[in-house]
Amino acid sequence: MPRRNKITIVGAGNVGATAAHWAVQQDLGDVVLVDIKEGLPQGKALDLAESGPVMGFDSNLVGTNDYDATAGSDVVVITAGVPRRKDPATGKFTSRDELVDINRKIVGSVTKEIVARSPDSILICVSNPLDAMCHVMLAESGFPRERVIGMAGVLDTARYKTFIGMELGVSVEDIHGMVLGGHGDTMVPLPSHTSVGGIPLRELMSEEKIDAIIARTRKGGGEIVGLLGYSGYYAPSASVIAMVESIVRDKKRVLPAACLCQGEYGYDKLFLGVPTVIGAGGVDKIIEMKLGDKEKQMLEVSANAVRDVVKLLPY
Ligand code: APR
Repeated sequence: MPRRNKITIVGAGNVGATAAHWAVQQDLGDVVLVDIKEGLPQGKALDLAESGPVMGFDSNLVGTNDYDATAGSDVVVITAGVPRRKDPATGKFTSRDELVDINRKIVGSVTKEIVARSPDSILICVSNPLDAMCHVMLAESGFPRERVIGMAGVLDTARYKTFIGMELGVSVEDIHGMVLGGHGDTMVPLPSHTSVGGIPLRELMSEEKIDAIIARTRKGGGEIVGLLGYSGYYAPSASVIAMVESIVRDKKRVLPAACLCQGEYGYDKLFLGVPTVIGAGGVDKIIEMKLGDKEKQMLEVSANAVRDVVKLLPY
């Protein structure tokens, strides 16, 4: 008898809990929500389960601090980590190097707990700094590259499409395009590969406006932090669930995702946001699209920014 998919989400914070919400609403499978904080995953899972009779879903939801409940998961989303914080004593923010050090330990230990119980799972990394944390997950899991994927491109692309839709006053559903590269200020939106209802973006928008949208996309995460005082979570969680859906339904969607490049686009042994086909086995393939010289240069800048963070890791 076919069984339901089992989706584990580690980190029951803003992104993790909201991802659980989207997952059960879309009937993607049963969900296990894990967190280090006692009560948090249990409380969120129970509250969400209690919305089932109202919303009409019947996924089983478990909230736990114990990884045994995650055994046999098909897909595991890892959002565990700490954000950058201001030290009240010194007024200084956590530096990037400190953040890498803290989160690599968290992501590394979570990965080990997961793979010990779900050796055939597909891992999706959400924790930041994203591209570096993908390297940690790959190294600690020992999984092939097809089963360790980072979520950044779907989110960055969603922001890019949102801003284009706002500017043109058209449905975001009809906007196609992609953002490649690392997850940060150097990400690479591709206006020459963006279309609206099949019409090239450049026929509809001036270069000035496109540049402004690219700049806003690159700072999209920061714009939300500026407004809320903490990171966004609706769009990040929806983005990771689009990837989960493509896996559990074997949809083979073409989505930008952080993958370990092994020669693609001229990069080797580096996680970078590239166009992928996502299906039941994880990354079915990486699509190598033609890039213009300017786009290649931007990708190089982005790859260098990723390398700068990755070199802080002990691998
Ligand atoms: N094991 C399990 N959970 C952990 C661990 C750990 N070792 N360490 C921290 N966590 C949990 C925290 O208890 C918290 O509930 O991870 C959760 C993170 O949630 P939030 O702080 O709300 O952060 P969120 O906004 O969800 O972002 C999560 O995604 O986009 C990225 O930069 C973001 O790295 C961050 C991650």
